[in-house]
Amino acid sequence: MSLRLGDLAPDFSAATTDGDIRFHEWKQDSWAVLFSHPADYTPVCTTELGRTAALNGGFAERNAKVIALSVDSLEDHLGWAPDIGEATGAALNFPIIADPERTVAELYDMIHPGEGDTSTVRSVFVIDPANKVRLILTYPKSTGRNFDEILRVIDSLQLTDDHQVATPVDWKKGDRVIASPAMSTEDAIATFDNVEVVTPYLRYVDDPRS
Ligand code: BEZ
Repeated sequence: MSLRLGDLAPDFSAATTDGDIRFHEWKQDSWAVLFSHPADYTPVCTTELGRTAALNGGFAERNAKVIALSVDSLEDHLGWAPDIGEATGAALNFPIIADPERTVAELYDMIHPGEGDTSTVRSVFVIDPANKVRLILTYPKSTGRNFDEILRVIDSLQLTDDHQVATPVDWKKGDRVIASPAMSTEDAIATFDNVEVVTPYLRYVDDPRS
């Protein structure tokens, strides 16, 4: 059965470009971004892993560790890795899981046979410090993802875990947020700064962390 939001992210053992890991032990109590790509030595994947390497400082600032996966061999990953730096200017700085037996790919339902072959599609799982799945994205093989969006979602999750707010469309860190629909307007006014009541259920407020 496929994973759903709130499920425990399954643990697994795997060989990676940084050595053998057990997933839960590797991530410890950080956030994790586990993402699959279809294949090594392919153009879109090269751009995606380069962009992720360039953004890795931003993931680290958010206490998030990044790990990629494909069903290619460790030998292929190690052979391809230098191309990522050369092609994109950002050297690989996170592990890639080698999953030639498709063990992790099947555990996380990353293979969609309607998408051409038995390689993984472009799946993303954001997993929180308690190992719960908090975001699932699935992109087709032909479409490169936007990794800034993944940072944006982590910002939203970390904010909304700590405060009774939600984040509106296209929200970015520092923008105004929305008082939780579960909160009365009276409570919102007592709790947050600068409350703007647009409708009884849409109440913009200042980011409580700013
Ligand atoms: C790519 O990474 O360029 C790619 C991989 C599989 C299918 C389509 C594109």
